[in-house]
Amino acid sequence: MASYSVTPVEYVGGELKVPGDKSISHRSLMLGSVAEGWTHVTGFLASEDCLSTMAAMQAMGVQIERPSLTELRVQGVGMRGLRAAGKPLDLGNSGTAIRLMTGLLAGQAFDSVLVGDSSLMNRPMERVAKPLRQMGARIDTLDGKPPVRIQGGQSLTGIHYDLPVASAQVKSAIMLAGLYADGVTTVVEPGVTRDHTERMLLTFGCRVDAVRGRISLTPPTRLEASSLEVPADFSSAAFFIVAGLLAAKELLVIRGVGINPTRTGLLDILGLMGADLRLVNHRSAGAEPVADIEVRPSHLKGIHVPEGLVALAIDEFPAFFIAAACAAGETVVTGAEELRVKESDRLAAMASGLAALGIDAEVLPDGMRLRGQPGRPFSGGTIDSHGDHRIAMAFAMASVRATGKIRILDVANVATSFPGFVEVAQSAGLAVVPAP
Ligand code: S3P
Repeated sequence: MASYSVTPVEYVGGELKVPGDKSISHRSLMLGSVAEGWTHVTGFLASEDCLSTMAAMQAMGVQIERPSLTELRVQGVGMRGLRAAGKPLDLGNSGTAIRLMTGLLAGQAFDSVLVGDSSLMNRPMERVAKPLRQMGARIDTLDGKPPVRIQGGQSLTGIHYDLPVASAQVKSAIMLAGLYADGVTTVVEPGVTRDHTERMLLTFGCRVDAVRGRISLTPPTRLEASSLEVPADFSSAAFFIVAGLLAAKELLVIRGVGINPTRTGLLDILGLMGADLRLVNHRSAGAEPVADIEVRPSHLKGIHVPEGLVALAIDEFPAFFIAAACAAGETVVTGAEELRVKESDRLAAMASGLAALGIDAEVLPDGMRLRGQPGRPFSGGTIDSHGDHRIAMAFAMASVRATGKIRILDVANVATSFPGFVEVAQSAGLAVVPAP
């Protein structure tokens, strides 16, 4: 089983570039596939999750050229041009792929079956299946989990749906089905979630009206191919933001990161804790805002994280808990029960990993409470990542405040979101090495 051996260091710094945004890369493949004409994507994230989506689209007859690792040319087949894969579509570890694909395939003329790895086969799917059934889709799950069986040939009708959980995946699945529905589809969010689908649909010429958490999609007759530039993934940058804040002395700059405000809750949370983070060189990558992030060592203080920021930082909590463990005083996170149904139960996985490094954290039904300690609070120890990429990468960052070696087990899934993680970490000054 692949693992990392991480030796404590004192300094991190320099200039980094992290790979492309995962959420945007998935969406570029799905929308590019059902558009008309060639969609050219640069900055694509060539990670296992996105390659699962790519393979699924290819299995449904879409031609995709890859002039380089991070560049795609997707030959859109039009909204009615996909064809049956003839076999189950294996979406690996990717929750985004299976949720969004369920929505996209609900309105097709053919049947589909969606499966994945052992983690994905345990992820809740009724949150997506239920609203899609209300639209007229025929979808079966197994005890609410994959395999997802979609019966094609149904006519869908637009619905008004109040999301019971703040989930961009559910919102996006409904909107993708809404492309094929008769009438307008409206989704109302209980809290703001990432809006990449809305932005990209507009780029492809689809009418989407979003006012105060109420998003309405008018079904288009066609989607028009586009050129897309994928910014660096804020969720990958988050690990180095935390390392840069916790390590001594140097300035760390992360270049060209997507700073869509529906993704950057971590910046606000860390700001409340006293972090010195600056966004510079603002620009746009198509519909998405981008900037360089400057990180300076900071003395953090514990806080009660405002619940309104939780959905805006949902993937960053593994990294955040490492920062919180080094902050002066108590940190409390509530309203974050969604963390229990990610690639692992991230509340349980983080608390047991923190315990292995000598930090007591109390798991709450919907969050965590822990008392941080400035200085070097982490002992060495062995962490089980539970096959969760973000748990593995978060604990590598603890090495900037550790007194002994940290061994992180079961790290192969880092490749689902961050190919080249070890090399980028080493270039920042972290002593992470793959170990057998
Ligand atoms: C994602 C949405 C989030 C996030 C996931 C990617 C997306 O999930 O955790 O990594 O691309 O839409 P939820 O929307 O279900 O919280």
